[in-house]
Amino acid sequence: MTVSGKQPFLFGGAASSHQVEGNNPANDWWDWEMAGKVPFRSGEACFQYERYREDFEIAAKLGHNAHRFSVEWSRIQPQENQWNEEALRHYREMAREARRHGLEPIVTLHHFTNPMWFVRKGGWLSAEAVADFERFTKKTVEFLGPVVRTWITINEPMVYIYKGFWEGTWPPGVQSAGASLRVLRNMLHAHVRAYWVLHRHYELERLGPVWVSLAKHVIQFDPCRPFSRKDRWVTALRSWFFNDLVFEALTNGYFFLPGFAAEFLPLRDSLDYLGINYYFRDFIRFDRMTAKDPLGEICNKDHHQSEIRGTTQMGWEVRPEGLYQRLLGLRRFGKPVMITENGIATLDESQRESYIINHLSYVAQAVKEGVDVRGYLYWSLIDNFEWDKGYDPKFGLVGLGARGERKIKSSAHVLTETCRKLFQI
Ligand code: BGC
Repeated sequence: MTVSGKQPFLFGGAASSHQVEGNNPANDWWDWEMAGKVPFRSGEACFQYERYREDFEIAAKLGHNAHRFSVEWSRIQPQENQWNEEALRHYREMAREARRHGLEPIVTLHHFTNPMWFVRKGGWLSAEAVADFERFTKKTVEFLGPVVRTWITINEPMVYIYKGFWEGTWPPGVQSAGASLRVLRNMLHAHVRAYWVLHRHYELERLGPVWVSLAKHVIQFDPCRPFSRKDRWVTALRSWFFNDLVFEALTNGYFFLPGFAAEFLPLRDSLDYLGINYYFRDFIRFDRMTAKDPLGEICNKDHHQSEIRGTTQMGWEVRPEGLYQRLLGLRRFGKPVMITENGIATLDESQRESYIINHLSYVAQAVKEGVDVRGYLYWSLIDNFEWDKGYDPKFGLVGLGARGERKIKSSAHVLTETCRKLFQI
């Protein structure tokens, strides 16, 4: 099923509720910030809950034809038995406003944050997590269905699990392999159930086609020592685990992790397209199979200085070829692809401009080689709250002043010109 068969190549900015809205006191990230677990507070963020009209106007002025945003579960369902219709109407109005500005709304249901009532019940570890997420999806689509066609159920399940349940640096701060596996299973099931709920709703309400995926973080992994068989082997294993496992499970309808899990999912195929977020490459080496590093170790970048042409404020390598390689790797799924995030944190506009041009050129090359890429969403439209890194990393096409003033950066125009040139928009 494709809704964008007739649509032009989509391009625009991406964001998530907690990072831009401001004042989300009912979710677990706010709680984490208040507990002092990170030295930053999201506070008013970009004031976008109130100022989204202005932001869509900017995006439209820049020529964008799509915008990705997330709905905040803790606003929509502040308590387990309480729905906030005002918040639901707000997000519906946001999607309408996007359309009025010629922006295709692409809506994420879960982007890292959870309502506190859900967390108190055990969050994504709870046996009820899947049903809770399904109810939230159902309620949200009742309101947004008539306006939205493209959905992302869950943003970066592997990153969420890694940070929150393996490394424990993000809420809920758990460090456990068993918990990580449990959350992964719950998130796979939650995605499938949400996919089903969304499709059923569009069918019953005769709303036309709907396009559902998740946003999967992909990383280009290369062996630290290419001549080492062990490095090559562990790199391939890590790449399969991190990049492919989720897409394979959701397209084959079963989840298979040798020695740990084997189970069928309720649907065989629950991806209408493949949403990918790409940022960087990591080098992997095999030294020891400790419990903490069963998939090898990320090797220090100092060993690769001669190959690395640039890094970002996040310390990530700038590696546009990696996006191309990941895109070619997705051809085997035979599905359309949407780049749901790609971007750079930098203070240097000329670095951002060349980042955008180089990544998009590789996207165009992948398209020439048969990858069906339908869109590119730059992370992010506006500088925003970068989780445990606070407000220092500047990912935006638009800068954010102390009182929330918006200032368009030069790279914003480069994104538009490059997309127009390469994708005939
Ligand atoms: C996440 C965003 C984050 C961005 C930059 C992605 O992994 O979805 O929330 O801001 O990366 O770190």
